[in-house]
Order: sequence, then structure tokens, then C-alpha cells
Amino acid sequence: MIRALSVASEAYPLIKTGGLADVVGALPAALAAHEVQTTTLLPGYPALALSIKGARAIHRWRDLLGVEARLLKGEIDGHPLLVLDAPRLFARGGGPYGDATGTDWPDNWRRFAALGRAAAEIARGAVKGLTFDILHAHDWQAAMAPAYLRYTAAPVKSVVTIHNIAFQGRFEAAIFPDLGLPAAAFAIDGVEYYGGVGFLKAGLEAADAITTVSPTYADEILRSEFGMGLEGLMTTRRERLHGIVNGIDPAVWNPETDPALPARYTHRTLPRRAANKRAVERTFALEAGDGPIFTVISRLTWQKGIDVLADCLDDLVARGGRLALLGSGDVTLEHAFLDAAARHPGRIGVRIGYDEPLSHLLQGGADAILIPSRFEPCGLTQLYGLAYGCVPVVARTGGLADTIIDANDAALAAGVATGIQFDGVTREALTAAIRRAIRLHASPAHWCTMQRRGMKADFSWGTSGARYAALYRDLLQR
Ligand code: ADP
Ligand code: GLC
Repeated sequence: MIRALSVASEAYPLIKTGGLADVVGALPAALAAHEVQTTTLLPGYPALALSIKGARAIHRWRDLLGVEARLLKGEIDGHPLLVLDAPRLFARGGGPYGDATGTDWPDNWRRFAALGRAAAEIARGAVKGLTFDILHAHDWQAAMAPAYLRYTAAPVKSVVTIHNIAFQGRFEAAIFPDLGLPAAAFAIDGVEYYGGVGFLKAGLEAADAITTVSPTYADEILRSEFGMGLEGLMTTRRERLHGIVNGIDPAVWNPETDPALPARYTHRTLPRRAANKRAVERTFALEAGDGPIFTVISRLTWQKGIDVLADCLDDLVARGGRLALLGSGDVTLEHAFLDAAARHPGRIGVRIGYDEPLSHLLQGGADAILIPSRFEPCGLTQLYGLAYGCVPVVARTGGLADTIIDANDAALAAGVATGIQFDGVTREALTAAIRRAIRLHASPAHWCTMQRRGMKADFSWGTSGARYAALYRDLLQR
């Protein structure tokens, strides 16, 4: 049995702002199937304190980068959970990274350096009763863990997974003395990054292996267009870089058992979906009709290409489409969609906010999900769309390129298409893709075949869980 410590800033169902949480939440079960026991370490946000029952303190720090902290041990869905209880760092309102207005906390460097330092100490065996073989850090918020581990003699191997290289945790050089690292760590092969300190960069330098969440994104981040300044480092370390596509958690995303759906269904009982479509129409005040309902379930940011979609809406409506959007993010984008809804009453419905059950209803009732991302390391909403018969219309990038088979003539004829892909996130390309979806939707034979094909495809964690486990084994044998 391999013992892995998985360190992250989010995990579903305890705390979630995006796909990172879904993946970190699903990994313990995915890996358990391959003889890996995963313990998850999370920061002690208020939301966690409420939901972890029976947690007890197993360790104390008088001075963890200047603050007092305790380590709590509990359980999540039958898997071990550790919570870094440091009230001065984590007991505050707002979200995991910023206040209620979305402004980053000014001490984020200390918050996540402390998480990394605690993780490294736990991994090297400083906490009685806990031993680990693998330290697995997710994204910049956890990436300091291998950077600290490097300065211990522990025989523990480390993995950093990049869920999004656009977020790097860059801070001023002035914080360096407070990180408690040896002076030599402020170097080009250490934590130094363009004259400051880079948390993700530090982790990528220190890790024994690097993974990212799709094979295409693993190639893309070697290029300046996608590498966001880290392409040079990624290129030097490319023999240690692996692209492992995310899976979906069937306990959470299954239309046959989903409590958020008025009508549950399988690929054999697709017509039942109609009741969910009616529920979407009511919820978003859309006119009833047989034409396609497109949905968007997304952070509203530049990454997601949502600004380009805003320019395509008049055409979408003119061609007989309707749109139900659930999302939040950039205020200008929120307003663009609220304006479009006001221009097209009954045809465009917008819900600004974050609503987990509503996201399930949209996957189970809308006809197609639009994902025009400029870059997408993996993307989960297209996988949920496949599982729910909500046909993905996606930009050909990252994990979207790896998981969707475009409905071109050959793929349609062979019965292998699962969605629509388009090249280049432009108004023209996206409009053409939407028109193509509307035409295909008018041909039930094609559309239902695509829906069923997606629903039958296997995007469970089976294969990817096995790949992570094989990577761990490989590292431990070196
Ligand atoms: P990212 O992590 O870049 O935001 P992913 O596609 O990997 O993109 O994951 C997004 C996750 O967040 C999915 O589980 C999706 O359903 C969820 N999500 C995004 N926006 C919302 C929202 N407004 N309400 C509910 N769930 C949302
Ligand atoms: C990031 C990426 C997204 C990916 C998710 C989980 O948030 O933006 O593409 O699916 O992490 O790996």
C-alpha cells in the first residue's frame, strides 16, 4: 500500500471554487482502487470547521511561519483528512483566496507558504503516527510543499500537478526572509522567479514528477502562448512531465441517481430528459419550445472565452436557439449577459452566482453546453455534459481537444462523434459552431446518437487513477 499526502486549497464537497476541488475530492477513491491510500490536507477555512465531525488535534505548531497552528485529523467520505487549523490565516469570511469582493488576501503568501511548510513537515514524519511515501501538491497554493521538502532528508517523493499554469503565486522578493528557507533557496533553480518569489515555479523545480490534467495541455505549456512564462522551465523538465486527463466522480455526476434532477434517466431512457428541459425553461424564464437550449456553467473570465460568446448571442437567438447561463466572475461580463437577457426576454436567461444543484439541472436539461475557452487545462463541464447527454460545443484546446470527438461528416457516418469542436476563439468560429449545433439538433437521428455515444463513453477515474498510481510506483522504485 502506497501512502500519499495530497495537499490542496480546495476539495469537493468541503470547499470549491472550480474543477480543482472536484479532482482533489475524487482522487482518494480513484487511487484506493490501485492500492494507494490518500490523506488529504486542506487549510482550516471556516466552512471546514463546520463540516468535519469528530476531528481531533494531533499536532501543534507554536510558530508556523509566525503563527500558531494545530493539525486536526478527521475523515472525508471514509478517507483520512488533515486540516491545518491556523485561525490567524484561515478563519475569515469571503472565499478561500480573497474577501467577499474578490480581492486577494494580502497575506496569501503566508497562508499558502504555511500550508506548504506544514505539508512538508507532515510528509517527512514530524507528526507522530503519520508516515507517507508520496507528497502530491496541487497548483500554486500547495506547490511550496515540495520546495520545503527538498531541504529535509526525507525519502519521500514529490509530485506537483498543474491544474492551471495561469495562476502561479508570484510575490515580491521581500517576503523571502519570512519563508524560513535557507538563503541558497533564493536562486534560479529554487524559489526565485523573475526577481521575486514564485510558488508554482518553486514547486516545479523541486518536484520529482510534474503532471498536468490533459496530454494536449502538457504539450501546450511547453510553448510561450500557453506557458505563461514557465515554458522554459517546463521544456527543461519535460521528461518529468506527464499529461493525465481528469475523470469524473460517478457518485456525484450520474443522471441515473442525481437528486438535483426532476427526471432521472440513462442512455436508454433519454426521452425522460424532456421533463428536465421544461424545468430549465421555468427556472430561466425561457419560452417553451423544441429548439435547442444552450447552457454555460462557468467562471466568467477571459480564460473561458465568455466575452466572445457575448458577441454571438444575437445570432444564436435569430437562428432559433435559447441560452441558460449560470456563472459569476468579471463584472463587465456579468453585465453583458444581463443586458443580452433584457434584449431577448424568453430566449436568454441568466443566473449570476454559484449554484451546485442548478449546475446539475442544466447538464440534465439543456441540449448543449458551450465552452469556448481560450485555454483549458482539462475542463470538467464538458465531461459532465457527455455523461448527461448535454452535447459539448468546445474550442479545440487542452483537455477539450482530448475528450470530445467532433461531429464532422466522417465521425457522424462512423457514429463516433460526441460533440462539436471549433478552432480559434473568434466570433466567426464560435458562431459557425453554434449554427452547426442548431442544424444537427434539428436532425434527431444524429443528435440522439451523439448524446448516447457521450453517455456511454467512459470518463470515470479508472484509467487516470491507474496512471497516477503507476507514476507513484515508478518514483518509489527509482
Ligand atoms: P475551472 O476549474 O477552470 O473553473 P472546470 O471545468 O474544470 O473549470 O471546473 C469547473 C467546475 O465548477 C465544474 O464542477 C462546474 O460545474 C463548476 N462551476 C463553475 N461555475 C459554476 C457556477 N456558477 N455554479 C455552479 N457550479 C459551477
Ligand atoms: C483548473 C482548469 C480546468 C481543470 C481543473 C481541474 O481549474 O482551469 O481546466 O479541469 O483545474 O483539473
